[in-house]
Amino acid sequence: MKDNALLSLLSDGEWHSGEDLARSLGVSRTAVWKHLNRVMGQGVRVERVRGKGYRLVETIDLLDKEIIIAGLPSLMSKRLSIDVFDAVDSTNAYLMQQSDDSGRSVRICIADRQTEGRGRRGRAWSSPAGENIYLSMALRLAGGFAALEGLSLVVGVALLRALERLGLKGAALKWPNDVLVDARKLAGILIELKGELEGAARVVIGIGLNVHMSDRDKQVDQPWVSLDQASPDAGWKRNDIVAAVIAETLGALEVFEQEGFAAYRDEWQRHDALLGIAIRTEPDGDEGVGAGIDQAGAYLLKTAKGQKVLRAGEISIRRQT
Ligand code: BTN
Repeated sequence: MKDNALLSLLSDGEWHSGEDLARSLGVSRTAVWKHLNRVMGQGVRVERVRGKGYRLVETIDLLDKEIIIAGLPSLMSKRLSIDVFDAVDSTNAYLMQQSDDSGRSVRICIADRQTEGRGRRGRAWSSPAGENIYLSMALRLAGGFAALEGLSLVVGVALLRALERLGLKGAALKWPNDVLVDARKLAGILIELKGELEGAARVVIGIGLNVHMSDRDKQVDQPWVSLDQASPDAGWKRNDIVAAVIAETLGALEVFEQEGFAAYRDEWQRHDALLGIAIRTEPDGDEGVGAGIDQAGAYLLKTAKGQKVLRAGEISIRRQT
């Protein structure tokens, strides 16, 4: 039995007897009880009262493939093959292992929980169940790897557009592609490449986005924020967010393939979290002031000795303390 089948029955917030749950799911009452214990172990709060049964203490925001598809433009959804999992090691790793034979031009993987979520520069990405979005998209981009400069910045712009459309206020982009609110990390993007050096490049674009993450998640090693904290009145629903992010990203990538990074440079610059801010590079330790990006999306650092150009994937930036 999948955890989500049980949670989906409970998601109406009403009381359900163990017997009814067992009947609906076609399993024994003991199996229901074991699964309830497991989801409770993952942090879902379930109330139990003798004679009434079980009900969720707080509403949960379940991922649902049909709702995600319904939220996409219909022409776009026909190009996609979508997998939604309760748990996977990493949605990026999953798509990196898949062959390109689904017959659809874009493969998408979404998981409720990742057991080995990965971040940039070999870091882990905290991926608790039921709270956030872990989304990866595998697709081919014309022009080979040489045409990929700026790609991660374009994805950052698309992500920001989707979130602003749904009600996020005050977000900024930290080069190369973190989304921040009040200098705390809301989302990160990990792009992995697969395939040939020439012709079409196959890329896997992974997005981790904090939606309902709560303070009980202490494993995160940097200041973070969730959508619920950043814009509490927007009524964030993971299925709507996933659909909006897929639609904005795939739309932006079509324009990027045709027009290149120039189509996104100004928009990225308008959201630059580090512009005019004193910063230090890692691991080189250069110090200076953020001065925006160049034509290709490399970050410009104004130092005492002149301008330094920082390229994606080599250097991360930290605020000076
Ligand atoms: C970063 O370090 O800022 C990038 C984080 C990217 C996390 C996402 S979650 C979905 C996808 N699957 C992964 O294992 N990582 C990316």
